[in-house]
Amino acid sequence: MESLFPGKEKLYEGKAKMIFPGDNPGEVYMVFKDSATAFNGVKKGTIEDKGRLNAEISAILFNLLEERGIKTHYIEKVDEVTLKVRKLRILPVEVVVRNIVAGSLSKRSGREEGTPLPRPVLEIYYKSDELGDPLWNDEHVLVFGVLTEDELSEVKEMARKVSGILREFFAGRGLELVDMKLEFGRIVTSGPAGEEVLGPIVLGDEISPDTCRFWDKSTGEKLDKDRFRRDLGGVREAYVEVLRRISN
Ligand code: TMP
Ligand code: ASP
Repeated sequence: MESLFPGKEKLYEGKAKMIFPGDNPGEVYMVFKDSATAFNGVKKGTIEDKGRLNAEISAILFNLLEERGIKTHYIEKVDEVTLKVRKLRILPVEVVVRNIVAGSLSKRSGREEGTPLPRPVLEIYYKSDELGDPLWNDEHVLVFGVLTEDELSEVKEMARKVSGILREFFAGRGLELVDMKLEFGRIVTSGPAGEEVLGPIVLGDEISPDTCRFWDKSTGEKLDKDRFRRDLGGVREAYVEVLRRISN
């Protein structure tokens, strides 16, 4: 995959994506990989074709959100596994929006998976591999200076909007958006002396079955990374099905 960007050094490599320098200032390439991890990297594997599927799914969803007035880092899809995006300084939080109890909330609350929530529940996790991305409350985020009060309210408001738009969109495609994880960042541009200048907050990262839970509305079948996390089989088929539902 590195040969896609000959002579260019990776800026960053994560568990599911690589970032390469862009051809224009303020832009980077986000290359989606087939590798998958779970439980903070303890479980490792490969999902055949996942890079292509997640790049395509993310591109469709970023396009949709942009059409609905949400500012994102997305510029365009440049090949099967690569999106051209704006360079961001990622805010060190993961914002999870939940519509139905599942996963870690089920464990933490003692409520059964599948219990509907009367309203969307927002959670903030502090991004730290070392600490395993702990769940923080607003007080922690503010008192440790991870976000300012304005940043916190802005990302929470954006996360609610994004989740609302996508839940309705997926419902129309027979899929329940159970929960999702979002990341935000400030647009990075360069100033007159080449210094980094930080701009507005936009939605970043990816939106895919790696970062959302999707359940088929009629059968309840899981169509997301839980198939990998829980060894349910049919992982690639689930990602293919999500793409099929949202295409056209
Ligand atoms: P959780 O129930 O395990 O806390 O996950 C909530 C949502 O966040 C689910 O849609 C999966 C997504 N997620 C990620 O994208 N990255 C992660 O590291 C974790 C733990 C969850
Ligand atoms: N991506 C995360 C990790 O490696 C966790 C997850 O999605 O379950 O570990």
